[in-house]
Amino acid sequence: MDYTTMNLQLEGMAQEEPGFIPLLSNASALIYQSMDRLNWAGFYLMDKGSLLLGPFQGKVACIRIPREKGVCGAALRENRTQLVPDVHVFPGHIACDSASQSEIVIPLRDGRGRAAAVLDIDSPVLNRFSEQDRQGLEAFAHIIEKSMKGLTPMEKTIYLAGGCFWGCQKYFDLMDGVIETEVGYANGEAENPTYEQVKHGAGHAETVRVVYDPARLPLRELLERYFQVIDPTAVNHQGEDFGIQYRTGIYYTDPADAPTVAAALQDLSRRYDKPLAVENQPLQSFYSAEEYHQKYLEKNPNGYCHIHFN
Ligand code: SME
Repeated sequence: MDYTTMNLQLEGMAQEEPGFIPLLSNASALIYQSMDRLNWAGFYLMDKGSLLLGPFQGKVACIRIPREKGVCGAALRENRTQLVPDVHVFPGHIACDSASQSEIVIPLRDGRGRAAAVLDIDSPVLNRFSEQDRQGLEAFAHIIEKSMKGLTPMEKTIYLAGGCFWGCQKYFDLMDGVIETEVGYANGEAENPTYEQVKHGAGHAETVRVVYDPARLPLRELLERYFQVIDPTAVNHQGEDFGIQYRTGIYYTDPADAPTVAAALQDLSRRYDKPLAVENQPLQSFYSAEEYHQKYLEKNPNGYCHIHFN
């Protein structure tokens, strides 16, 4: 297999025109045509904490792969190439196509070195991929990484308090354009408070850090969706929960967001007779909540939630 030629072709493609989807589409076609004994070649991209199907060549494939599963999940978690001579003995392998016998999965890293996507190549024969393939394909992936640096979606962050953070996190996680969420305690005095301290009125608000792609989800739209699940006139109270930690608030870190937040709240206030209780402040502090609170409703599907998802 002549990786020098294939990788030069990819370099050429990467220079042609900036664009994430065209490059990944042609990259998967290039692999599929250049390498023999393959039944699938393509990309999965990080989206809301799991891997979402991207451009590929081959049979219809699984759309979403959780971080915990599959060869792809392992490449993402360990942030290194997985060379699997026999998929049947790989714990957690996902058989999108039962013809697959061996595979190689290479992580693609973003500007901060985090795995942001994977290149997955499957073969219908056992032991298809060698050390030479690994090196050649890692170089291939590196070319994509370099040109992706300028193309990765712009990420923005906003902190939203909307009552119990369990339900709020799930609500934001379900939105298209949300990249990542984390629950924590915002705008209170004590550093690194525990849940117990916050519960007893330390002064922090249960808050979700929402990382989003403004091209897909403009801030104004994100705020409108947030307004749909809060009672914006309730003071220190949402749903069944009462206390200062359940106040509502929009806490921004980019001063350029302040006018958007103000305009959204102004608009919202016209829909209510009572004054709004939603805070509009720069973020002063945010401390991540304990691990058991993160993605709580995923871990406890019957857990309490003030938001109704149906
Ligand atoms: N086999 C992969 C899933 C993706 S399909 O091969 C296209 C895995 O176990 O992660």
